[in-house]
Amino acid sequence: MMCWPVLISILTPVIAWVILRIIIVFSSPLRAIPNAHFTTPVSRIWILWTRFTGKEFSKCLELHNRLGPVIRIGPREISVNCIEGGVRTVYGGNWEKSSMYDNFTQFGFSPLFAMRDTHEHLERKRLFTSVYSKSTISRSSEISKAVSSICHQRLVRRLQKQVDEGKSVDVYSLTKQCSMDIITAYIYGEKNGTNWVVNPNQAAPHLSAFQRAADPWSFSVSTEVPKLVAILSWFGIQLIPPTVDTAFAHIQSFVLGITTGAIESCCSSVTKGNDTDEVTKQVWQKLEDIPEAERLKMIASDMVDQLHAGHLATGVVLTYLMLKLSRNLDIQERLRIDLTTSADPQASELLDAVIMETIRMYPAGFGPFPRVAPANATVAGFAIPKNTIVTASPYILGRNSEIFPQPDKWYPERWLQAGPDQTRIMRQWTWMFMSGQRICIGQHLALLGK
Ligand code: HEM
Repeated sequence: MMCWPVLISILTPVIAWVILRIIIVFSSPLRAIPNAHFTTPVSRIWILWTRFTGKEFSKCLELHNRLGPVIRIGPREISVNCIEGGVRTVYGGNWEKSSMYDNFTQFGFSPLFAMRDTHEHLERKRLFTSVYSKSTISRSSEISKAVSSICHQRLVRRLQKQVDEGKSVDVYSLTKQCSMDIITAYIYGEKNGTNWVVNPNQAAPHLSAFQRAADPWSFSVSTEVPKLVAILSWFGIQLIPPTVDTAFAHIQSFVLGITTGAIESCCSSVTKGNDTDEVTKQVWQKLEDIPEAERLKMIASDMVDQLHAGHLATGVVLTYLMLKLSRNLDIQERLRIDLTTSADPQASELLDAVIMETIRMYPAGFGPFPRVAPANATVAGFAIPKNTIVTASPYILGRNSEIFPQPDKWYPERWLQAGPDQTRIMRQWTWMFMSGQRICIGQHLALLGK
């Protein structure tokens, strides 16, 4: 029989934990917020389970529809689904990113995406602001040359060849190859970029590494329970498959290689007075006080993120766009006529409607995009204690039936029929690139200056 001292030493911490949890539940201002699940005031199990099983966004959408714009998804974690007082307060107010982002260092450097300190981030962002601005992208000769040769020549030739040979097309791979060719042409210059539309076999190992590295299970466990991952690995239990580490090593080596090649080539061009405006060249010059070896890895750390997120997200959106156009032949035909007869195809209202409707429904990155509440914060009328984690999701915002009636229907007409005020509101709720200081820097490149 177990003796009393042993029993007491086991029960004491358990009872203390229960009492502490009860105190937290009854004293936290978050108790005023509807719970996503009855366990959420005391435990993160529910949110971890929905994240690990890939059901977070569908589940939270259903809960927001039922319980309102703010729900409690953990003892110190809430999800918001409104613009005024919600997204605008948190993301527009530049609340700091959570520690989840500490997982995204590359080559020992923190890329822009992972920087948490607001001032450090702002300083670093200055490197990229002008090269990715809408006016730079829409005026860039580099980008118009790249689009012309990649889309109008290489892509059309490749598709024609597939048709002639009676072969089917893997659209998702093709859109990723095309996106990577355009992004690298802009970042490194066309001669230093990839040529994957023409050489899909060359692309295959890299695309596979990028896809494996984005494995949702590994992403969730490494960001949500990093300590558990580390402890279990001491005992030989690997929660993250070794293929994920291999994939990250592959990506780093690929990006370092392409960045080194571009910098060697652009630096020799600089001395020869070449006036091309690739991103790497400009950033390299702006950081001239930093020793070259360190500077190279610093830039490559940013490029890992920009190439990874850029080509995957753009590939996802373009694939859905193709899917929807292939199933809505009337819209496809109208769009074709619009683009081939217009003097300014970029200004096509139908094109805009088709893009907006696609990114509303399929925003590529669903989230979560966790932010940390400062002192004395209020979200949608609720007082939020300091350090509460707040998240919002473009997927959930884009499916709000009050803003978008029949939200599950792909219906570009809604954008053509809306008046100016309604369009402005619909654009705010179509939050694919997010907002505030941490808005996606690549948004104008992804939309090619549109
Ligand atoms: C359809 C395509 C794209 C989508 C949907 C997208 C979406 C996003 C989102 C939601 C964020 C915020 C993430 C967060 O705070 O956790 C973000 C940030 C970022 N994106 Fe994109 N992105 C796209 C394309 C690109 C491209 C083409 C590039 C670069 C070439 C890029 C570079 C970045 C960078 C560097 C950040 C971090 C910005 C910062 O923290 O200041 N993205 N993107």
